[in-house]
Parts: sequence; C-alpha cells; structure tokens
Amino acid sequence: MMKVFLFFFLFLACLNSKEWNTGDSDLSNKDKINRENEIINNILSECGGTGLTKLEIKEIVHFIENYLSNFIAYQEFYVDRKRTDLPCDIEYDPSTGFVFIHLDRFYSKPSKNKVLSKAIQYDIKNPKIVAVLTSQKPGLLEKEIEVLRQLQGVSRTVQLVGAPVHSRNNQLVQKMILPFYVAGDLNLKMKLSVKEKIILATDLMEALKGAHDRGITHGDLHKGNLLLEEFTEAKQRGIRYRLVVIDWESSKTVEGFSYHKRKDLYRAACTIYGLFHDEKYKGSLFARGDRFERIFADGLVKSDSKDLILGEISKEITKRKKELDKRNKEKSVTLQEEFEWIILCMMHPTYQGNEDAEYWYNEFKKLM
Ligand SMILES: Nc1ncnc2c1ncn2[C@@H]1O[C@H](COP(=O)(O)OP(=O)(O)O)[C@@H](O)[C@H]1O
Ligand SMILES: [Mg+2]
Repeated sequence: MMKVFLFFFLFLACLNSKEWNTGDSDLSNKDKINRENEIINNILSECGGTGLTKLEIKEIVHFIENYLSNFIAYQEFYVDRKRTDLPCDIEYDPSTGFVFIHLDRFYSKPSKNKVLSKAIQYDIKNPKIVAVLTSQKPGLLEKEIEVLRQLQGVSRTVQLVGAPVHSRNNQLVQKMILPFYVAGDLNLKMKLSVKEKIILATDLMEALKGAHDRGITHGDLHKGNLLLEEFTEAKQRGIRYRLVVIDWESSKTVEGFSYHKRKDLYRAACTIYGLFHDEKYKGSLFARGDRFERIFADGLVKSDSKDLILGEISKEITKRKKELDKRNKEKSVTLQEEFEWIILCMMHPTYQGNEDAEYWYNEFKKLM
C-alpha cells in the first residue's frame, strides 16, 4: 500500500519535476550511470564506517539522483526511510543546497542534552562524513547555532555545515551539522612531541583570539570540547593534529576584556597544562577555575578572601614556575620548559591582568 502511494506520489511529482542540483537534465542514460558510479565509488573510498553495503549505497545514490528532486518540488525536504525502503533517511537542506544521508540514528549520546549521529554529506567528488547533533531540549541548539554563525570564518573554531529543521510527530527537530572529527577529543594521555603540543596550544589561542575579538566567550573549556583534526604526515610535515574548539553552548557575549574572557584563558591554560601533567589537570588546578573567575568579578569577592584564593592557586604553581624562572634567566631552558613556563605564567594570578588571547597566541608563536 505504502509503495503504491509512493509511486503515485512520484508520478504526480514527475509532472512537475525539477532537477535539484545535478545541473544537467540532458544527461544521457550512459552519462547518468557513469555519474552514479562515480559518486558510489567516491562514497566508498572517502566515507569509512558508514555500516552500509555497496548495494545499499547504490540504491541510495540512485534514489537521490532520480527521485529526490520530485520530493523537493513538493517542499518535502526530509524523506524518512519508511517512505523509500532505503536504509537511511535522506534530507535536502534548502538553505545550503546540501543533501545529507542520515546514518545510524543514534550513534552516541554524548551528554544528557545532545545526541550525536553521523551523516554523509552528498557530493560527486567530495562526499564527507559529517556530525549531526540534535537535542531534546527546546531552544538549546538554536542558541549555539546562532553563536556558530557569528563564529563563521574564525580559525580553529568549529564551522557550521548546516542547520536544517524537519518535523517529526508534529514537533520540529533542529539539527546542527558540523564536520566530523574522527580523532575525537583532546586525549591528555596521548604521546605528542613538544612541537605538536605548541601547535595545539597556538590553535586554541587562535580560536579564543578570534572569538574574543567578536565579543564571544566560550565559557566551558575542557578537553572534551577540544577536538583533534587529524592530518596525514605528508600533509603537515610531522604535525599529526590540529585543534578545533567545539561546544559553544555556554558562550556569552561580552564587551571589553571581562572576567569571562579571563576564565576562558585560565581554563585554556589548565587544559594545556594537562598535556604535561595529566594528574594536575584532573585535580585542584582545574577545579579552581570557577573560583578563579570570581576573583575578577568585581564586587563578588571581598579583597581578603581574594588574596586567599590567589595564594592557594599560586602555591601550587609557584614552586615549578620559580624553578623555570631561574633557568629561563640563565637561558638554559629547553623548548619544552620554555613552553611550560608560558603556561604557568598564564595560570599565575599576577598575570591574567591585561594579557589577552592575542598576547598568549604571540607568546606561543615565538616558540615555533
Ligand atoms: N563534530 C564532532 N565530531 C566528532 N565528535 C563530536 C563532534 N561534536 C561533538 N562530538 C563529540 O560529542 C561530545 C559532546 O559534544 P558537545 O557539543 O561538547 O556536547 P555537550 O554540550 O553535551 O558537551 C564531544 O565531547 C565529542 O566527543
Ligand atoms: Mg561538551
């Protein structure tokens, strides 16, 4: 019954059919088959881990190339698998023109608020796996999507691929589509060369510099929100990873160099410090981030307890910093120590006065 309805619908739609973006309705049958084969081969070679067989990919491509435009002509942008007997839902995003093949519906549930799944971003030459984040909490993604729009073009911050909406059971489902980073988040236990650590720290500062310049703070920096972009050795001469900042859900819009920006910098420093001393990251230095931020929230903390908090933080890092201060003066520090010294300065309460993301970005750059 379902299929009869579908064919009737397609027949009607054909009368009013429009090519969506094949760009060439005069393709001969042979050209069409060649084009489909090219897409299938590119999906097979570029998109690993889809869980789809070659035959399934063939059917999906055939549907997109031949029938999707008929749905689009009827403003049906989300085609549920139940209507096609395909193994995936297919979606056309009218605001970008992209087509997405939604893979396993629930890939993982990273947190109580968001669900992460994967999709193939359809393209003849460059099909890609993308990350799809959805949320049960109304309004949660809208705010983050708006921030990502403002961060468009800011290096090392995650870039929005699309934000299509579809309706399920009369409810709107908002999606946030992002590039998928296979290497996962910043794993503090992984072996990285000093050069690689410096690159990651510089990337993080570059992202903060760009965001802070636009008056946007992150608000929730920790290793889980720093993803690794993986490169083949040949591409980046010994640098395997670059950093990308995700999860701008807690971000704030601020004017001037407010304590929210300082909190980002303190948290950033603690996270980078975790690349040296994993156990300190887990411990008190990181936990004090929130109290540290309050020092700078004028009027929130009385000056005597302010000194107390400053003292507590500095005790932990002062010993190590003093050692490195001395060796720095004698110019006997290694590159790794010089790098560690900058991070200690970043965390040290006497710093974080006027030093902004750009200042620390330049400090890291000098090491390269
Ligand atoms: N684009 C992506 N590529 C790969 N993994 C991602 C991507 N976005 C999110 N994740 C994974 O999902 C986790 C949670 O996503 P995030 O946006 O930080 O949600 P939450 O607000 O719940 O922390 C991340 O720590 C990461 O492991
Ligand atoms: Mg997160």
